[in-house]
Amino acid sequence: MFIKNNLHLKNITRQRVAEGRNLIKGLRLDRNEKVDIWPKNFINNILKKKPKSFFSTYPEITSLYKKIAKFDKVKEEQILITSGIDGSIKNLLSLLTKPKDVISVLSPTYAMYQVYAKIFKLNLFKINYTKEYNINRKDLNLFFKKKPKILFVPNPNQPIENTIDNKDLIKLAKKCAKINCFLVVDEAYFHFGSKTAVPLIKKFKNVIVLRTFSKAFGVPSIRAGYTISNKENMSIISKARIAHELSSVSIAVAEYLLDNYSIVRKNCNLIKKSRKIIKNALSKIGLYCRSEFGNYVLIKFQNSSEAIKVVNFLRKKFIYVKGPYSKPWNNYINISLGPPVLMNRFLKEIKIAKEKKIFN
Ligand SMILES: Cc1ncc(COP(=O)(O)O)c(C=O)c1O
Repeated sequence: MFIKNNLHLKNITRQRVAEGRNLIKGLRLDRNEKVDIWPKNFINNILKKKPKSFFSTYPEITSLYKKIAKFDKVKEEQILITSGIDGSIKNLLSLLTKPKDVISVLSPTYAMYQVYAKIFKLNLFKINYTKEYNINRKDLNLFFKKKPKILFVPNPNQPIENTIDNKDLIKLAKKCAKINCFLVVDEAYFHFGSKTAVPLIKKFKNVIVLRTFSKAFGVPSIRAGYTISNKENMSIISKARIAHELSSVSIAVAEYLLDNYSIVRKNCNLIKKSRKIIKNALSKIGLYCRSEFGNYVLIKFQNSSEAIKVVNFLRKKFIYVKGPYSKPWNNYINISLGPPVLMNRFLKEIKIAKEKKIFN
């Protein structure tokens, strides 16, 4: 082997998740993406206002920094734009940790936390949920005894939705600060009704917030996200940026959506409407489900075999859903929420599945 360093990477399994779906016939409810599609002229309308030199020049990102700063009521110097929240997580781990450090995340959650922990040789301590879907306090207390460096809190989290209110976040921030640990609040699902931790950045030196254009903004394709913290932290964190954080096309789309936030709001309102409809309809057919502030619904079945059968039944109808998950969540599936007109297709099929006794 010519490479002598980082040989542990050879043993890490990486997958290109969710490729191979039928994107024409399919109803994509498996990745918390925008379930409906953007109009055909969406990108043309954005690009037609750009100068002729648009594709021939390197990207200009300053105005996007200004727009995000205005949107989130922070200073430009408090932001680093990254390739989604994913890029923010990788950047933070590379800068704020060294091998063998203990970090933690609420679990289960976004799968890349685990992958990056392996890449950076970190000790990932998973804080689980109780059967009542609350954070396991025993795990949390144990974590604080391990001299941890970062606590990641996806808020709200998925697939187990648990939302921590600002009072509890303040308690966590204080506890973390006492032991020199960062509290990183992953707000991937902000804009669907939850509160933000951005105001805590002023009060706590150890608080970092992550945001994305992938969920409420509905454009996971552009791979745009950002890290927010105080100026002092960002004077280090933003220095590790790549030469051009985003492509010109991604910048143009992100700016367009910030300039036309009413489009995003409308999208979020449709999702909130679906949330009510789906929860009602599922409970009417005897299914327990949870969804409060996300663009997804966690659905419980009697056992893992039922959950698997439902996933396969729906897949045959080109309806893609996520799950079941590892134990103890192996009888749960998760569906993304789109506008009500599209969710009707899911409801129709889940009712058929019930009639056919695929689940009880
Ligand atoms: C909790 C959470 N964090 C981060 C991400 C990744 O977001 P992005 O597309 O911005 O990388 C996801 C994606 O599903 C997520 O669920």
